[in-house]
Amino acid sequence: MTNAATSAAAPVSDKDRVLIFDTTLRDGEQCPGATMTLEEKLQVADLLDEMGVDIIEAGFPIASAGDFEAVSLIAERVKNATVAGLARAIQADIARAGEAVRRAKRPRIHTFVSTSPIHLAHQMRKSEEEVLDIIVATVTQARNLVDDVEWSAMDATRTPIDYLCRCVEAAIKAGATTINLPDTVGYAIPDEYRAMFRTIRERVPNADKAIFSVHCHNDLGLAVANSLAGVEGGARQIECTVNGIGERAGNAALEEVVMAIKTRGDAVPFFTGVETTMLTRASKLVSAVTSFPVQYNKAIVGRNAFAHESGIHQDGMLKNAQTYEIMTPESVGVTKTSLVMGKHSGRHAFRKKLEELGYNLGDNVLEDAFRRFKDLADRKKDVYDEDIEALVDDQIHTIHD
Ligand code: KIV
Ligand code: ZN
Repeated sequence: MTNAATSAAAPVSDKDRVLIFDTTLRDGEQCPGATMTLEEKLQVADLLDEMGVDIIEAGFPIASAGDFEAVSLIAERVKNATVAGLARAIQADIARAGEAVRRAKRPRIHTFVSTSPIHLAHQMRKSEEEVLDIIVATVTQARNLVDDVEWSAMDATRTPIDYLCRCVEAAIKAGATTINLPDTVGYAIPDEYRAMFRTIRERVPNADKAIFSVHCHNDLGLAVANSLAGVEGGARQIECTVNGIGERAGNAALEEVVMAIKTRGDAVPFFTGVETTMLTRASKLVSAVTSFPVQYNKAIVGRNAFAHESGIHQDGMLKNAQTYEIMTPESVGVTKTSLVMGKHSGRHAFRKKLEELGYNLGDNVLEDAFRRFKDLADRKKDVYDEDIEALVDDQIHTIHD
């Protein structure tokens, strides 16, 4: 394993491109407390489009008049991305989704039905054969409205593989162009998820007629790992949300899957079309419009993702940033690494900070200032530039008095 920041192998062809399907406005908005206004949804959609996301799932048009309006307006204004509307396996849902995405340059209907025994028995109250008939009827209806139809097997990861193969085959025969196999309850582990895609793609005779998609929830904290495993198993679309917002523990985080693919191109030899320097902006926007704070230590976009406090790390960073950073902050839209001054900081970082603040102290004065800084850092949790300035100014005055 080498330093991927400098050695990522460039993927070679379009078959290595992974489509990014953003569902912040649908699965993301579905989680408690994340409701967005129409204006906010339009802002998010514009940014996702500009960022190079391939598919924007704009909402669930049958859910409410507001959702229908948001999906319709997003469909009209989005310039590049495909715009998808979600529909249950119900005629009225599909008709409504078709109507909402009608004006998009690239419209998609995304229809889903449960396939696992527990959902069939308790939620659907239908037999396997009845669900197969529903798949054929609903995918056919959607294909009569748009050319681009995604079909999802809800709770795919708890569905017996033989039955799942039959469902996928039926959906493709009826005209589905994307097959999504979600880990709806975040139950899978990466090996299983990878194997599921491999098996389905080997066993379903018409599998090569559709693009396979991953959709992972984060109940066990495995959503990103599972998404990457699914891609290794042959999927070429990842469904994800900005900041990983979504039902319960959320969905796979867009910024994490995109940067994992970009940074570890040696191990995950794929690419996406996302402009990664916009990831921080997207994270801030989604956090602001949903009022969901981003945890400090969140990968890629957390406030500490490029911050260093320990003396050893700060010293390494000042010598060569690759000692403790596997990607540059600029690559995700952060202007620079921050060396946070605290009780763990060392002399090297302290001297650098003083230089930044315009002080050029001799060795003895610096040594004394460093000692006083350490005393202060022991008493005060956050040491700001102003604290350091006050400390040094005070010391300089004492020397001159
Ligand atoms: O988690 C899930 O199964 C979903 C489907 C609607 C795709 O969100
Ligand atoms: Zn979901």
